[in-house]
Amino acid sequence: MDNKTILITGGCGFIGSNFVRHMLSRHPYNIINMDKLTYAGNLENLKDIENDKRYRFIKGDIADKSMLEGVFEERIDGVINFAAESHVDRSIMDPDAFIKTNINGTFQLLEMAKKKGIKNFVQISTDEVYGSLGPEGKFREDTPLSPNSPYSASKASADMLALAYHHTFNMPVVITRCSNNYGPFQFPEKLIPLIITNALADMELPVYGDGLNIRDWIHVEDHCEAIDMVFHKGRPGNVYNIGGENERTNIEIVKLILDILGKPHSLIKFVKDRPGHDRRYAIDSTKIKNELGFRIQKDFKKGMEETVRWYIENRTWWERIKSGEYIEYYDRMYKNR
Ligand code: NAD
Ligand code: DAU
Repeated sequence: MDNKTILITGGCGFIGSNFVRHMLSRHPYNIINMDKLTYAGNLENLKDIENDKRYRFIKGDIADKSMLEGVFEERIDGVINFAAESHVDRSIMDPDAFIKTNINGTFQLLEMAKKKGIKNFVQISTDEVYGSLGPEGKFREDTPLSPNSPYSASKASADMLALAYHHTFNMPVVITRCSNNYGPFQFPEKLIPLIITNALADMELPVYGDGLNIRDWIHVEDHCEAIDMVFHKGRPGNVYNIGGENERTNIEIVKLILDILGKPHSLIKFVKDRPGHDRRYAIDSTKIKNELGFRIQKDFKKGMEETVRWYIENRTWWERIKSGEYIEYYDRMYKNR
């Protein structure tokens, strides 16, 4: 695949930007990054590689068919679809964009890929499509889908479409379903960066419900490595779960951040729960480990210390974000909660 061109959508977001950097450093490919630049898309996330001759940015919406026709005029050898509305709370407040991008956008991209005979299409999905677990068990690839939020329902719909395109049109589609990511460049609406940046500003730290909901945290670099493996070695028509083998309650995460920062636990404020809040996610990664040789590399404690340091050292990055539209969002979400 040496001189090949890979289309990455949503490459200006958190995981996409880490993945663009990962691909340029590991492989000789040309990368086209197509991103709508929603509130979550930020050109600054890729400032360090923007002049790389193998990299090109195109501002565009995956749901815009004529836009896609233009992009696919040149030869594209593989597609990795990260583009999505990704925040559960926003999907509860205002689901419209989730349906447009996550369902219709994925559909338009699949259609275009079918028309152009794309040989490799990776759909980046999420463990949230499986719903919520009780205290026991883990999500396997054959766990029935049971999404609970407008976000996860839209992602599950996209998965169903992608699998249908494989089944009906024999399109070489592969799906990844990963657990909660953390690391540099994560938008400060998500738990970990929200808590770090609020704590750095000595603001209250909102913890939903009893704080005992469990997520399985994975460093974004480990997720990127797993996607790289799936892109190169994944079997068409297959789903690969990716997990961090690292279940933590939310309150444990918040206390860990405060302890790394040397800030008092009194900043914690328990607030009204998220409606329909999934209790526990946990991933069984046996398939990707056995088939593709995936292994987690990043130790969680070390990864968290590095992440906290990144937010300390990149204060202008998040201070710029936490102004304007973000303040309105924050008020709507957290004021009087
Ligand atoms: P993000 O919100 O940080 O980034 C999403 C990016 O997609 C932004 O750059 C945005 O501008 C772009 N985008 C949105 N709508 C678009 C459209 N219509 N056309 C083109 N670009 C568009 O999200 P993230 O956390 O980086 O997540 C990336 C993908 O990974 C998503 O598909 C998400 O469902 C999935 N995922 C995320 C996590 C996680 O913990 N963050 C875990 C598993 C899977
Ligand atoms: O599991 C993968 C998913 O992880 C991805 O598909 C999503 O795109 C990503 O946003 C993430 O979803 P979550 O809802 O798990 O992530 P979030 O960071 O929003 O919340 C993590 C947990 O922390 C969840 O139980 C809700 C809680 N929480 C979150 C926020 C923002 C709080 O207690 N307080 C908060 O202010």
